[in-house]
Amino acid sequence: MSTSFPPLPLSRRELLLAGGASMAGSGAWPAEAPSGAASAGASSANIGDGVAPPSSPVQLKVNGTTHRLTLDNRTTLLDALREHLHLTGTKKGCDHGQCGACTVLLNGRRINACLTLAVMHQGDSVTTIEGLGTPRKLHPLQAAFVRHDGFQCGYCTPGQICSAVGAMAELKSGVPSHVSADLNAQPVYSADEMRERMSGNICRCGAYSNIQEAIAEVATRSTA
Ligand code: FES
Ligand code: FES
Repeated sequence: MSTSFPPLPLSRRELLLAGGASMAGSGAWPAEAPSGAASAGASSANIGDGVAPPSSPVQLKVNGTTHRLTLDNRTTLLDALREHLHLTGTKKGCDHGQCGACTVLLNGRRINACLTLAVMHQGDSVTTIEGLGTPRKLHPLQAAFVRHDGFQCGYCTPGQICSAVGAMAELKSGVPSHVSADLNAQPVYSADEMRERMSGNICRCGAYSNIQEAIAEVATRSTA
């Protein structure tokens, strides 16, 4: 049996315009458009008209080099690194903050680069996997990953290594984790502690035990 619905009294366009008007009237939107924009309706009409989206200048220090970019405000830090600076070592996995493949160090702290906009980081310092070591001079964690066979396809590896560098710095500076019973006590390295801290970095190849061994080697060496 088919169900028939009465025709809508408004077209979709009319409905959207009416919704916009009631939002503005309720105070949920500003009553007046910001200077330079004719109206909210006009700017949304422009989106399909080939008008460039808003962009902003931003200065980032990446791996010690200062870059001045003008970016679409919607550009994530991950896309700025990969698409604008061509630093493709940082990987895009889920693009939703769930896999950790895009982990970089922002002012020394690890961050998912897919979850933050580049224009929010004016003057910030970013370290990517390219800034940690080079093929001739590997970072100790990179060397340990090779020694312990801590990867298979390698896609998650830059994020794993940046994350491990950040996690070890957290341990050193006393940032607590959920593993510590006493959040005020200085955290110390343990396999459980590091598993917890690395839990945001997913490895589809399942190289976890070797990753763990690589991190353990460097962490115990640096705390010995
Ligand atoms: S790509 Fe950023 S968390 Fe997956
Ligand atoms: S080594 Fe393949 S996803 Fe981790």
